[in-house]
Amino acid sequence: MENFEGKVVIVTGARTGIGLNTATLFAKAGAAVVLAGRHEPKKEADELVKQGYQAASVMCDVSNEADVKNMVDFTVKKFGHLDFAYNNAGIQSPVTKTEDLSLDEYNQVLDINLKGTFLSMKYELKQLSKQKTNGAIVNCSSMGGLVGIAGRTAYHASKHGVLGMTKSSALEYAKDGIRINAICPGIVETPMVKRMNQTENSEMNDLIKEVPIGRLAHPEEMANVVLFLCSDAASYIIGQGIAVDGGYTIH
Ligand SMILES: NC(=O)c1ccc[n+]([C@@H]2O[C@H](COP(=O)([O-])OP(=O)(O)OC[C@H]3O[C@@H](n4cnc5c(N)ncnc54)[C@H](OP(=O)(O)O)[C@@H]3O)[C@@H](O)[C@H]2O)c1
Repeated sequence: MENFEGKVVIVTGARTGIGLNTATLFAKAGAAVVLAGRHEPKKEADELVKQGYQAASVMCDVSNEADVKNMVDFTVKKFGHLDFAYNNAGIQSPVTKTEDLSLDEYNQVLDINLKGTFLSMKYELKQLSKQKTNGAIVNCSSMGGLVGIAGRTAYHASKHGVLGMTKSSALEYAKDGIRINAICPGIVETPMVKRMNQTENSEMNDLIKEVPIGRLAHPEEMANVVLFLCSDAASYIIGQGIAVDGGYTIH
């Protein structure tokens, strides 16, 4: 495992699922980790500290600009600087035909998944630029950022948007030593997918049948790629959306 001692990382949406697994892996690799979430991941951060790791929590709704600014300020105050961020916070929306998708539902998904990623990057990049240090940002897109799936217009629009932002901002900061990439997870066993299984069992079963590797992903399989993208081993990778999807998007 890469040694991230002395590094400081923010993970958004860190209370559960891929976010919590990534925060935990960063902590185990020696980084000081700020776990951010709209319900503060205090219990989760305290547990890491109890195990001897460096961690702290902050309440942050990524769709709220003041919260996001505070998240970065809190990180710098607590641990002195920033090196990496994994912008993970996101929500799904129920399967709906586009003509039946309400504007409120559309706005909610875009607000959290796309605006939330934009705001997170904006304040993280301000800090990294101020420090004039190298850094890495990983955004969370989805296989839904690479392909379409019927009934998922808002989610897929948001995740395609995350890739667009990742590529454009990566170009802006490439010469500054700040690498920006994204992961595009397939279907991962997390609370989000458990909720989808409960409400959309048949659609989910159809989707799972199409995964070439023949199983769902474990959240750690996403965390491993996030840490790799932040590590020196990924020093020449810029602006990519790495599919971690068991082969789904190569159909
Ligand atoms: N699981 C999959 O199959 C899959 C596939 C592709 C992409 N993804 C993406 O992976 C990311 C993590 O999802 P997951 O599967 O780990 O699901 P999850 O367990 O539901 O995690 C999502 C996290 O985001 C947080 N969150 C939601 N809205 C937020 C907001 N406005 N501000 C801050 N935090 C917020 C949630 O916090 P609360 O619980 O406190 O609300 C939760 O901790 C998401 O971006 C998702 O779209 C997941």
